[in-house]
Amino acid sequence: MAEEFKPKSIIVTGGAGFIGSNFVHWVVDRQPGVHVTVLDKLTYAGNLDNLAGIPDDRMDFVRGDICDAGLLEKLFPTADAVVHFAAESHNDNSIADPEPFVRTNVEGTYQLLEAARRHGTRFHHISTDEVYGDLALDDPARFTEETPYRPSSPYSSTKASSDLLVRAWHRTYGVAATISNCSNNYGPRQHVEKFIPRQITNILSGIRPKLYGDGKNVRDWIHTEDHSSAVWAVLTRGVPGETYLVGADGERSNIDVLRAILAAMGRGPDDFDWVRDRPGHDRRYAIDASKLRRELGWEPAHTDFAEGLSDTIAWYRDNVEWWQGAKEATEAKYAAQGQ
Ligand code: NAD
Ligand code: TYD
Repeated sequence: MAEEFKPKSIIVTGGAGFIGSNFVHWVVDRQPGVHVTVLDKLTYAGNLDNLAGIPDDRMDFVRGDICDAGLLEKLFPTADAVVHFAAESHNDNSIADPEPFVRTNVEGTYQLLEAARRHGTRFHHISTDEVYGDLALDDPARFTEETPYRPSSPYSSTKASSDLLVRAWHRTYGVAATISNCSNNYGPRQHVEKFIPRQITNILSGIRPKLYGDGKNVRDWIHTEDHSSAVWAVLTRGVPGETYLVGADGERSNIDVLRAILAAMGRGPDDFDWVRDRPGHDRRYAIDASKLRRELGWEPAHTDFAEGLSDTIAWYRDNVEWWQGAKEATEAKYAAQGQ
């Protein structure tokens, strides 16, 4: 473990999105001495309501693009660290139109790294297990920090590219950077395009849930609050230059997750539609988070998936006005793709 890093002022990119906003709330609630500057472009995935209730003296919000070097130049001088969540984040969108993924995920990370280099700012990069490609369903292996990169989709390949930039900027220019690669997150405020919120909000809207392919694909689910505590552990106790995998032993097939949602919402196990598979669909993701647990003493708090799912369903039921505006356009996009 490195000597503890104690930031007073952090920039959180993508802080109005799903995981970024959960992280901002986590920091404001648990780290009283830390000021947060959220930098977010407010794309279709960003929502200022996600930051409602945060006191003015704890957070500034700046609407802007991480590709805007001039803006970064204004924000970086007062920050001790940047925690970089901003990204185009949805695989299906990346297949339909990869251009914004290359721009935000690759060029945006490059601009942030250059700003961190100029100002000597600590850098924590949020990435995904998808950079490692996929595993077979019957393979006992899980991803570790040593697994070779083998991304499948435009999304995961741009995230892999950004990870490699971070590693190079650390080695060549000495930027004090860490990387975390996390598995699939679930919890409140996730966009309705993603698997779990899409199915919950479909049921709440009277639309049948949609399952891709044969439904046997496996994802390794972690509650977004556990991701937040892991990011804080790596930012403050991680060793610059190191990568940490984040996961909570939550492997489940898509059909099992869907049937858990159907049961929790009082529907039958076959009350859904099979739809066209995603091109290049990764079969299985699985994380071995031993390094994070052993070296930084991190443990997940949300180990009961059924309880986390039930709380998430309750959140979508109680916050219809939060998701209703995006639902129709999202489903129209899926319908045009046969999904
Ligand atoms: P999200 O799509 O919900 O939020 C992304 C946020 O980034 C939005 O607020 C958006 O407005 C902002 N943004 C996009 N482009 C921007 C730009 N050019 N400049 C400034 N802001 C911009 O995404 P998420 O699911 O919260 O994912 C956050 C991060 O976590 C991403 O880096 C993603 O790769 C990573 N990640 C996600 C998961 C997951 O399960 N969702 C798992 C592991 C890692
Ligand atoms: P998603 O939430 O898009 O995350 P990722 O692609 O990053 O894993 O999808 C999770 C899994 O659910 C993935 O295997 C694709 C599948 N899926 C469906 O079966 N139906 C859907 O409507 C969606 C959006 C995803």
